[in-house]
Amino acid sequence: MCGIIGYIGNKSATPLILDGLRKQSYRGYDSSGIIVFEKEKPELVRAVGKLEVLEEKVQKSDFKGTVGLGHSRWATHGEVTEANAHPHADCNNNIFVVHNGIIENFMSLKRQLEEKGHVFHSETDTEVLPHLIEHFFKGDLPKAVRQALLLVKGSYGMAVVARDDPGKIVAARVSSPLVISVNDSGGFVASDPSAIVSHSNKMVFLDDGEVAVLESGTFTVTDLHNIKKEKEITELEWSAEEAQKGGHETFMLKEILEQPESIRNVIRGRLLPKEGAVKLGGLEEVEEKLRGMKRIHIIACGTAFFSAMTGKYMIEEYAGLSCEVDIASEFRYRKPIVSPDTAFLFISQSGETADTLAALREVKRKGGLTLGIVNTVGSSVAREITAGIYNHAGPEIGVASTKAFTSQLVALAMLTVFLARQRSMSLVLGKRIVEEIARLPDLVKQVLGQKEVIAQLAQKYASFSNMLYIGRKYNYPIALEGALKLKEISYVHAEGYGAGEMKHGSIALIDENFPTLAICPSDSVYEKMISNIQEIKARGGSIIAIASVGDKEIANLADDVIYIPKTIEMLTPILSVLPLQLFAYEIGVKRGYDVDKPRNLAKSVTVE
Ligand code: M6R
Repeated sequence: MCGIIGYIGNKSATPLILDGLRKQSYRGYDSSGIIVFEKEKPELVRAVGKLEVLEEKVQKSDFKGTVGLGHSRWATHGEVTEANAHPHADCNNNIFVVHNGIIENFMSLKRQLEEKGHVFHSETDTEVLPHLIEHFFKGDLPKAVRQALLLVKGSYGMAVVARDDPGKIVAARVSSPLVISVNDSGGFVASDPSAIVSHSNKMVFLDDGEVAVLESGTFTVTDLHNIKKEKEITELEWSAEEAQKGGHETFMLKEILEQPESIRNVIRGRLLPKEGAVKLGGLEEVEEKLRGMKRIHIIACGTAFFSAMTGKYMIEEYAGLSCEVDIASEFRYRKPIVSPDTAFLFISQSGETADTLAALREVKRKGGLTLGIVNTVGSSVAREITAGIYNHAGPEIGVASTKAFTSQLVALAMLTVFLARQRSMSLVLGKRIVEEIARLPDLVKQVLGQKEVIAQLAQKYASFSNMLYIGRKYNYPIALEGALKLKEISYVHAEGYGAGEMKHGSIALIDENFPTLAICPSDSVYEKMISNIQEIKARGGSIIAIASVGDKEIANLADDVIYIPKTIEMLTPILSVLPLQLFAYEIGVKRGYDVDKPRNLAKSVTVE
């Protein structure tokens, strides 16, 4: 959602802040702003719309100051206006705040502050923060911030500067990510490491309730009561270059085509072919506990939820464990049973999704064992779970999740082997599955090699306004994911269905203007899928089939076929989703949309 960046040091702050905002623009924003201290005088500039508007305004002023903050806002409280854009200031133009999250008790705080004479200029919840800090400020900014935050309820990742306590940035977080980094030329604070990783890959991730004070070249972290905290420095594997487009037109395409590599990364060092087993270092400390588990409960949102659904089929079939899946936003508000024989697995690319995090905290509160499959190193989910598996897919910048999804599926396949080999899976079967997982990078490459064929197909279908996606068993969640990809990238109405469920309603939609993408590799439900395809053909619907190489029957039935290589049934989703990613991408581009930043969406959903 919103993005925070701050710099303090010996360089001009403005270009560093603008660069940090640009690098976080993928998160989605509708307005932006910057505060720089120019010869001790605060210079505040805010703008509605694209970052270019802010850049143009700032360039006219040519600020040279070496301390400043920047923010890109995605409106929650109050409309998209310049007055609502951050930074927000106190009554004296002394204290300036940028903030991500929601201050839940802002109404009552605002009322109390207004009674004391504070004058507000925006409709935002954020504006109570500079006024509240002003209320406590007596020349010591960190102290005033700590005092103010003791009264605040809600979520915040925030950074503050004060004219009358210069040479400091104070940053604090509760439930909204914040990272700091210090090098020889100064210190940075950001809501996303990708905004500052080009300056240093050594990061300090703040935890809830922590307050950091950055001065040029140094930092300290305390809690809200000023008790000092020792912080670990995390070295990120991401290079600045990795976070760029690498010669591709869009991040989304780059990330789709990177999948042979990202899958290689998730399996690197983890397969034990001779033992028919996998080594998951991140689960070692809970290995014995997992042996006694009877159930796995997976919780996630969006695309990560579809990987959870696919994982359910894997775990039940091979590990013989009962597996339940839940959308995090539903799980957190029901009354889940957290029993000692159940392990709770949270899947998240960003590791910052508000609902997933809330569900995780609920399970922890009830004493459940928490595991994770997370891509972003040092993210909140990664830090709060007991044990987990990193995806190592590298930064995913495109809003539509692609490479993170397939690496989640591979991580789930490895977790399945891990759990199954603790139980009844034979050495022979373990070897067979491990062998097939090792082949995946090459198989994925073969599918992606059909990019041009899929582009032509997309041309043929780009003008349709509706599409149905169907699949069964392992490929039922892939039908849902394929439909989601098309919706979010090309704004075409798409429905994902379990093929067997079609007859219970959605088949009524089918006519010559409603094509169907049928995912029907040669697996245990192939015959059933063929019957469903025939039913659609009989009603005049056209079919694009995703089928296994060598399937001759399908060519007589479907209007178009995309072939994927053969593998074991459990791994077919990792191949069948690839044409669907490319198909959605091509249709989005043909329709002229910005596929990296689809309308109304943000990469990381850090508010409810
Ligand atoms: O970062 P997470 O994996 O927790 O994000 C979950 C969803 O918000 C995410 O997968 C979303 O559905 C994607 N934009 C879909 O492409």
